[in-house]
Amino acid sequence: MAKGTRDITNLILNVARDVRKEIGTDVASEFTQRRRWPISCTVGPGLEGAIACLSKVGYVDGSHGLLVYRGYDIFDLCARSTFEEVTYLLLKGRLPSARQLNSFKKKLAAYRKAPSTLRLLMGFPVENMNTMAALRLGANLKRQEFTYIDRESARPDVSSAISTDEDSIPMETPPRGEPHAIYEFDRKQYHARNIRRDRLAGPSGFDSCCHLIAGIPTIAAAISRLRRGEMPIEPDPDLSHAANYMYMLTGKRPSPLDERIMDVALILHADHGMNASTFATLVVASTLSDIYISVGSGIAALSGPLHGGANEEVLRQLRRIGDASNADEWCKKTLARKHKVFGFGHRVYKTYDPRARVLKPLVAYLAKTHPEAKPLLKTAEALEEAVVSTLGAEKGIYPNVDFYSGLIYTCMGLPTDMFTSTFAVARVSGWTARVLEYLEMNRIFRPRALYVGPLNKEYVPIEQR
Ligand SMILES: CC(C)(COP(=O)(O)OP(=O)(O)OC[C@H]1O[C@@H](n2cnc3c(N)ncnc32)[C@H](O)[C@@H]1OP(=O)(O)O)[C@@H](O)C(=O)NCCC(=O)NCCS
Repeated sequence: MAKGTRDITNLILNVARDVRKEIGTDVASEFTQRRRWPISCTVGPGLEGAIACLSKVGYVDGSHGLLVYRGYDIFDLCARSTFEEVTYLLLKGRLPSARQLNSFKKKLAAYRKAPSTLRLLMGFPVENMNTMAALRLGANLKRQEFTYIDRESARPDVSSAISTDEDSIPMETPPRGEPHAIYEFDRKQYHARNIRRDRLAGPSGFDSCCHLIAGIPTIAAAISRLRRGEMPIEPDPDLSHAANYMYMLTGKRPSPLDERIMDVALILHADHGMNASTFATLVVASTLSDIYISVGSGIAALSGPLHGGANEEVLRQLRRIGDASNADEWCKKTLARKHKVFGFGHRVYKTYDPRARVLKPLVAYLAKTHPEAKPLLKTAEALEEAVVSTLGAEKGIYPNVDFYSGLIYTCMGLPTDMFTSTFAVARVSGWTARVLEYLEMNRIFRPRALYVGPLNKEYVPIEQR
């Protein structure tokens, strides 16, 4: 292991040790007890406290500031695992053997190519579109690699399906790998028989999840390049998920250090309980709509500045503040106007977000070799001090994952308008894992609203109003 990547592992292990010393090993039990439906819970506005489903995918302990995927502490996963392994864990519920991981990585690498989706995407004015709107479109277009979903009776034959693939857009580097992989996936799905198996093996099945997890980075990177007037770059199947994403975005193969930090960032963003975008994805999936449309809804929900869009707002906010010496006054004015400070606060965490605990020292490490990030980091640290000293103890408001992630992406050369898409590149693992789980016990989501309007009004014909 190179020194830089070893340093990152040690930094994360140090964070883990400090957190465990500070909060012990207890886990808040309020949301971990097995309960039977109907469940009584106290619900606040925005469904605060509501239990939407039972899940074994992951757990957020907001009072201690802990995050767990399938029983494994996020700090351990960041220190020892990889995004591919964590994705397998989320989807399958167990850590893979070396052979299973190898074949899973090969599957993801094969599904990275999305030539027909990119060709369709280029028919839209992507260069003028919001990146998340374009990504949502891309997820839905990716679905059309399986045109039989909509035209089962008129499914194209083998030769035309392959020629569609060959008729792909030109790329800067020649395509590599298995040219018919997409078609073979299609055929396997087409033969799925009964409806229940079809739902699990078909357009909302494991392979479709992998198809999206592998394809979303390709689409996101292509959107970024098209917006800059550059052609998309063909994925490199020999690179890791994190390195390939950075390569497709920037055109450069990242250093082992940048690859490792991106991998940690992807692990940290992979899943996070019943957050707004996961819930949106599940609501759509619960109607037995397919995984592509469901993930498109997740992307839509993630794009908002109160959710994943906050990471882009944080950078704009830091640039507006301009200098660390302005942070205190800027914070006072912002709070006096009752405005939110982006990158702070969380519905569940009332303490320091464990993901921010990992990201903060990583920014400091990266800033050593990226002097251009130092003033931004100083401003961020000053803003953290100002917000936490005002709202920390009183309202439980501390930095969340979005506060430091943007600084990391900036150091690694990602354009600001790609931060939220990078969040989606990671979160698609959690969205799909939770859809797979939910469909095993599916019930359509259908809450009620409290009607507070008038009743018994008498209809007045238009000429008498
Ligand atoms: C994440 C967020 C949407 C959670 O919202 P929520 O659970 O509905 O919390 P509320 O908006 O009800 O906030 C509760 C209180 O804390 C305050 N608060 C919460 N986040 C705040 C922030 N970032 N800046 C300033 N005040 C904040 C609210 O003003 C409110 O104060 P009040 O009780 O005096 O009215 C909210 O903290 C926020 O908007 N943060 C900024 C956006 C962001 O970083 N999002 C990324 C989340 S990972």
